[in-house]
Amino acid sequence: MDEHDLPRHVAVIMDGNGRWAKKRLLPRAAGHRAGMNRMIGLAEHIFARGVKICTLFALSTENLSRPAQELDGLYALFREYFPKNARTLREKSIALKVIGDRSLLPADVVSLIEEGEALTAGGRAGLMQLAIGYGGRQDILSAVNRAVRGGKEVTQQEFSCLLSTGGVPDPDLLIRTGKELRLSNFLLWQTAYSELYFTDVLFPDFTDKELDKALEAYARRERRFGKV
Ligand code: IPE
Ligand code: IPE
Ligand code: MG
Repeated sequence: MDEHDLPRHVAVIMDGNGRWAKKRLLPRAAGHRAGMNRMIGLAEHIFARGVKICTLFALSTENLSRPAQELDGLYALFREYFPKNARTLREKSIALKVIGDRSLLPADVVSLIEEGEALTAGGRAGLMQLAIGYGGRQDILSAVNRAVRGGKEVTQQEFSCLLSTGGVPDPDLLIRTGKELRLSNFLLWQTAYSELYFTDVLFPDFTDKELDKALEAYARRERRFGKV
């Protein structure tokens, strides 16, 4: 694959942890733990392939109305894994940014996020955006409200900068694991021209090889952006 065929920014909707566990007669929490382990390996592989920006959808605003027991389990996993992984990203000079509405998250989780972001802030080799408590409509709406407060009309480019993803280039490739064919309120504005790749593979089974398949599919796409 030559450099030109490689996406600069890959976004992943990591779905299917619960069904992965169910298939194995395990509790959903076991699926989330398997998903967390896979997420760490996958992120490493994505950057090793030469992708510069990676955005992972870990928890949507809508997911926040799941039962408290499941959410508590997810936050516990976050507390267990996040600090160590922030240090690993720092070693690789990858900046970490969490997007989403932090006011919806437990205070100690927000503190860990802030520490992780501060630790990796100087990273120049790549950018990892983790979407937690994230909703695409909420993202657009808060950008609209910021624009309104600015008191003048904005261009598309200026509007993009008001979103939680700031001035980061849009995803070239959006992958969704776990069989569903929808965006589930992920990056709605930012994916206007992303190439979409859907797979039945449940997230914990989405191996590095499966990622390579998605990159190969991307390399075969012809991106026209409306032109002839
Ligand atoms: C995705 O897996 C992870 C989160 C949304 C937290 P799910 O938990 O949605 O797994 P399924 O879709 O029930 O299999
Ligand atoms: C999308 O998965 C959100 C994440 C993977 C974080 P969901 O499981 O929440 O999506 P729906 O409910 O099937 O649309
Ligand atoms: Mg799901």
